[in-house]
Amino acid sequence: MSEEILKVKEVKLYYSSIKGAIRAVDGISFGVLKENTIAIVGESGSGKTSTAIAISRLLPRNVFLYDGQILFDGINTMELEEEEYRKKVRIGGISMVPQGVMNSLNPVLKVGFQIAEPLIVHYNIEKREAMGRTIEALKMVGLREDVADRYPHELSGGMKQRVMVAMALVTNPKIVILDEPTSALDILTQANIINLLKRLQKKMHLTYIYITHDLAVASELADWVAVMYAGHIVELGPSARIYEEPLHPYTQKLLASVASIRKEKKLEFIPGAPPSLLNPPSGCRFHPRCPYFIKGKCEIEEPLLFERVKGHKVKCWLYA
Ligand SMILES: Nc1ncnc2c1ncn2[C@@H]1O[C@H](COP(=O)(O)OP(=O)(O)OP(=O)(O)O)[C@@H](O)[C@H]1O
Ligand code: SF4
Ligand SMILES: [Mg+2]
Repeated sequence: MSEEILKVKEVKLYYSSIKGAIRAVDGISFGVLKENTIAIVGESGSGKTSTAIAISRLLPRNVFLYDGQILFDGINTMELEEEEYRKKVRIGGISMVPQGVMNSLNPVLKVGFQIAEPLIVHYNIEKREAMGRTIEALKMVGLREDVADRYPHELSGGMKQRVMVAMALVTNPKIVILDEPTSALDILTQANIINLLKRLQKKMHLTYIYITHDLAVASELADWVAVMYAGHIVELGPSARIYEEPLHPYTQKLLASVASIRKEKKLEFIPGAPPSLLNPPSGCRFHPRCPYFIKGKCEIEEPLLFERVKGHKVKCWLYA
């Protein structure tokens, strides 16, 4: 059986704001098996990017609370000093393709330089080796060597996203976190990038944490799915089970709201809006929108995570 390369235990990430603490990630736990893919899905504002930021320790300045345990290959990364973290985790450990980063390439610098520079500046890798690694990474993502000499405006959207993947691979990571890497791309380019990610995973023995609001993409790529709602993981399990037998009312609604080319179905929507994380609803955070709401219970007590069948867990009182 494959072993766990990452274990996230009761992780919290709160931001400070003038109105109070924003509880973006509020006590989430999950494990990721080596060379597997876990998809994190959920509506906008549910805390997906904040989860990625917490795992990769790319924290903004206004962190109010960063707590819990993140075990990478058995090491609790939260306890490492920055220098040790850099050596043990940032290089050759956990890498990230941040959300929307495709358009943040510097327009006046050549692509190759932009990939190589962090290696030289942050990771003290010699210039020649950094350029060598850059070319290797570009080839790995299916780009020609001469792309290194081009400026970002000379590349298509799909090529830019490949450059971003190359940038994440250049440190030779074990885990790659991909935050909505295909959202801005047309459907064919999306499919190309997903196929590329699958090939790279096999070739480089990568483990992926794939963040998306698109359940169809998640089902294509992921072995496991974690469904996030308002800073909590409300359902976690093997992706096939989640699609065939979603347990949480939120997951059921989320699936019912997605169009399918395989089945003809009436599309549903989820009434109401995701709650504010400044002052989330009491008890079950989904209770104001839930059709199965149990009065006197759901608005008072936060549900526990119940394990229905091995590995398939759901945070809902219906399964108590
Ligand atoms: N640096 C920050 N300071 C204060 N609040 C923040 C910060 N970053 C995110 N938030 C808030 O934390 C919550 C979770 O945001 P996050 O970006 O993690 O959501 P998300 O699930 O990735 O959403 P999307 O699908 O839109 O990318 C939101 O309410 C957001 O406004
Ligand atoms: S705990 Fe209650 S409100 Fe929450 S999802 Fe389950 S039934 Fe709905
Ligand atoms: Mg996000």
